[in-house]
Amino acid sequence: PHVSFLHPQGRSGEVDANLTLLEAAKALGFQLNHDCGGNASCTTCRVEVQAGGDNLSEIDFDEQDLLDREALSEPWHRLGCQARVLGDVVVRVPETKW
Ligand code: FES
Repeated sequence: PHVSFLHPQGRSGEVDANLTLLEAAKALGFQLNHDCGGNASCTTCRVEVQAGGDNLSEIDFDEQDLLDREALSEPWHRLGCQARVLGDVVVRVPETKW
C-alpha cells in the first residue's frame, strides 16, 4: 500500500501491508511520536485520517477507549501505533506534540 504522512518533514511511499502507521512511518524514514512505546496509552502517536480510512484496521477496544478518554473519538483520529495499513491511506500528523 501507499501511505502519505502530511507534515513538514512527512514522507510518503509504498510500505508492507499490515504494518502499523508507526512502523510504516519508520520504514519511510519519518518518526511519529510514540511516548508510551506503542502501547496504546499515550496518544502522542495520533494522526488525523485524510483519506483511505477504510484501508486501516478496525479500531479495537484499547484504541477506542483511549481516544474516548482523550475526547478524540471523532472517526478521523487514529493511534499510529494501533492502526494497521491495509491499503492506500493519507494521514495528517500534528505538528506540535499533544
Ligand atoms: Fe502511545 Fe501510540 S505510542 S498510544
